[in-house]
Parts: sequence; structure tokens; C-alpha cells
Amino acid sequence: MHFQFTEEQLMIQKAARDFAVTECLPGVIERDELQKFPKEQIMQLADLGFMGMMVSPDYGGAGMDTVSYVLAMEEISKIDASVSVCMSVNNSLVCWGLEKFGNETQKQQYLTPLAQGKKEGGLYIGAFLLSEPEAGSDATSQRTIAEDKGDHYLLNGVKNWITNGNSASVYLVMAQTDAAKGSKGINCLIVEKNWPGVTVGAKENKLGIRGSDTHTILFNDVKVPKENRVGEDGFGFKFAMKTLAGGRIGIASQALGIASGAYELSLNYAKQRKAFGKEIMHHQAIQFKLADMATRIESARLLCLKAAWEKDNNIDYTLSSSMAKVFASETAMWTATEAVQIHGGYGFVKEYHVERLMRDAKITQIYEGTSEVQRIVIGRSILQ
Ligand code: CAA
Ligand code: FAD
Repeated sequence: MHFQFTEEQLMIQKAARDFAVTECLPGVIERDELQKFPKEQIMQLADLGFMGMMVSPDYGGAGMDTVSYVLAMEEISKIDASVSVCMSVNNSLVCWGLEKFGNETQKQQYLTPLAQGKKEGGLYIGAFLLSEPEAGSDATSQRTIAEDKGDHYLLNGVKNWITNGNSASVYLVMAQTDAAKGSKGINCLIVEKNWPGVTVGAKENKLGIRGSDTHTILFNDVKVPKENRVGEDGFGFKFAMKTLAGGRIGIASQALGIASGAYELSLNYAKQRKAFGKEIMHHQAIQFKLADMATRIESARLLCLKAAWEKDNNIDYTLSSSMAKVFASETAMWTATEAVQIHGGYGFVKEYHVERLMRDAKITQIYEGTSEVQRIVIGRSILQ
């Protein structure tokens, strides 16, 4: 067993770190405040090959491994989780799903520009549409209908909480075709945002990841050609579950980054802030917090890397990705809250960054399956 990264992985980690510090850090507070989508940063990520990191170069991707993806996600999430969630959705939910289960035409037409993050010089990214107002954790209860009309589906319904909702050009939409078949009656359809009948609803005003654009998307008699179905008839729910297993590695790495960002800021602060005649790091109460942060973060990192390594080596990673997600997200929430505590009053204001990390940490316990859903997946797996 090796606990060493390759030279290439270290290079990718450094590129991500440099990008985060030089391109994401300036303006991160303002984007959060104004809920401004980080379009410029996403275009730069596309130029770095980070929007289709794991996609084969045959389809416009960078051909990197999942371990490199974890390293890049961690570095970017230390600074701006609104940038990294956009990157995570495009990489692990949209591109991975299309590369793994799409047909050759779909790969040429959609995957190739999505993996490049650009088409004709403009931003070209995707979104993953599973959640509905009445189907979140209970994802099999899809109300969006894809009625089979022979050569096409007629799509009607509402999806909510959609990340990249307004910025995406392509949507992967889960919809029910045959309710009698339950989860086996669901299909995944590739839908273009500018097709007639597709409407982007208002942007959500959120607690955290405020730069990310989260929207409700409405479908009213949208004609979707049959050739835009991904996989066999009725494969949509399995498509979503398999894709989410990899997506959860991305969100676990995002949580890891938020935690390590909060920890690094706290360590630096504790080294220079003085109280009662000494730097606060010399007060044992503060030192213990830092020790616990470092230990939990290292554990979260190992879980993320194990899940990534399993994925890279074609080993079933469903269990380890859920373990990584639940542990890393709870580590992020705890670490960011303690980071605010270590900063005292300064932690409560925006300039010191930790209050934003604390707000951003919360979503990692909710999206791509809540902590309770991860425990359901883990529980079922260990009982088997
Ligand atoms: N791989 C392959 N197949 C799977 C699977 C997996 N990981 N998980 C389930 N399935 C299959 C099951 O085998 C079953 O198929 P069979 O009937 O052939 O056996 C079918 O799918 C239904 O599975 P379950 O009976 O387990 O379904 P359930 O209703 O009990 O739900 C659940 C299970 C784990 C709770 C699931 O509904 C779930 O993951 N919910 C959370 C949804 C979620 O994560 N949403 C995220 C939206 S995207 C997002 O959030 C993006 C973002 O923020 C950035
Ligand atoms: P519910 O499912 O109603 O859950 C409410 C509470 O009940 C939770 O604590 C939950 O854990 C608990 N609960 C539910 N069932 C059980 C159970 N069986 N056992 C124990 N506890 C249970 N979705 C997409 O499809 N695409 C996206 O791009 C996307 N991006 C998102 C971005 C943001 C900012 C947010 C907030 C959400 C996003 N989501 C997206 C939706 C997200 O995946 C859901 O919010 C999440 O899956 C939870 O669903 P829900 O909100 O309906 O909560």
C-alpha cells in the first residue's frame, strides 16, 4: 500500500491551489454577498481541463484519475465552494454519467463540449435534475412525467434546487415514464435549456454557496427525441444512483476542502493572536481544538482518497463514497464552527472568511443525499 501521490497528481494539486489563490480568492467575499455566479472562474477552470477532468481525451476530457479530482476539489473548496460545486456537478454527475452510459452520438454531441466546459468560445456546462418539490431523499417518488409518444417523450413537471440551473446549457432530467413500474419506470433524458417549453425559475437566496446558481426548472410539453434517452428504457433511477455514488466523492472532497480551509485559517490565526500574554495556540483549549481538527480532517481525506482509489481501480465504491461524504461533511460543519470560535469576534465578520466557510459547510450535509440518506446506504450495505 502506498501513501504517496504521483508527480502528476502533485502537479494537479499545485495547479488547483495556485488557481484558487490567484483567481478565486480575490472577489470571493463580494461574489458571496452579491450571489454572483463565478462565470470567469469556471471559464478558467475549463481552460485548465478541470471541467472534464476524468473524461477520456477522446471526448474532450483531461483523462485524469479520481484521486487527482479529489486533490483539485479540496484545494478549490478551501477558497470557494461555489466554484467547486459547479465543477463537481459538471465532472461527476453530468460528464461521468454521459461517458459511462451515453451512446456514441450523445458523447460526440454533448459530452465532448461539456467536458471542455466550452462551446464556440462560450461557457457550456451541464446540470443534474433529480430533486423535485415532493421528491428529495425519496427520489423514486418522481412526479415529472416523460410520456412515451413513439419517437419522442413529452416532458412535463418541475425540478427544484438545481445547481447550475441557469448557467447550464444541458440538463440530465430524471422523469417517470411508467409509474406502475416504480423506480424501474424512470428515464434519464438529455434536454437542452433553450428548447421550447423549458423555463428557468427564480434563483434561490441561500445561506451558503451563494455564488452557485440554484434554480427551479419547469417543463411544459417539452418534446424530447427518443435518441436523447440515456441507456435502456427504465434505466433512469439506476443511472441516477450510480452517478450519485461518484458524485458523493466530489461533495466529500468539497467538504474536506472547506474543513481544511477553515483549519489552515485557524492555525495561522492562533499563531499570531495574543491573549493573556501569549499566542492563543499556547492555550491548551485552543491547541486541542486544532489537534482534533487536524485528526478529523486527515481521516476525512483518507476516506475520500480510498473511495477515489476504488473508483479508479474498478472496485465497488458505493459504500466508501457514502462513508466519505457523511464523515467529511460532518467534519466540515464541526471544523468551520470551531474555526469561528477560535477567531472570536473576528470570526463573526466576513473579512476573516471562516463565517462563509461555516455557512458553506452546511450544504455538504444536505445535497447529493443528506447525512441520513448516507447512513441508510451505509446501513443497508453493512447489513447485507
Ligand atoms: N447503484 C445501482 N443501483 C442502485 C443503487 C446504486 N448505488 N442504489 C439503489 N439502486 C437500485 C436498487 O437496487 C433498486 O433496484 P432493484 O429494484 O432492481 O433492486 C432501485 O435502485 C431502487 O432502490 P431502493 O429500493 O434502494 O430505493 P429507495 O427508494 O429505498 O431509495 C435511497 C434509496 C438511497 C434513499 C435513494 O433514494 C437516494 O439516494 N436518495 C437521495 C437522493 C439524492 O442523493 N439526491 C441528490 C440529488 S443531486 C444533488 O443533490 C446535486 C447537488 O446538490 C450538487
Ligand atoms: P427531504 O427529503 O424532505 O428531507 C428532510 C429531512 O428528513 C432531512 O433531514 C432528511 O435527511 C430526512 N429524511 C428523509 N427521509 C428519511 C429517512 N428515510 N430516514 C431518515 N431521515 C430521513 N438536487 C438535484 O437533483 N440536483 C441539484 O443540482 C441539486 N442541487 C442542490 C443545491 C442546493 C443548494 C440544495 C439546497 C439542494 C440541491 N439539490 C439538488 C437537492 C438536494 O439533493 C435535496 O435537497 C436533498 O436530497 C434532500 O431532499 P429534500 O430537500 O427534499 O429533503
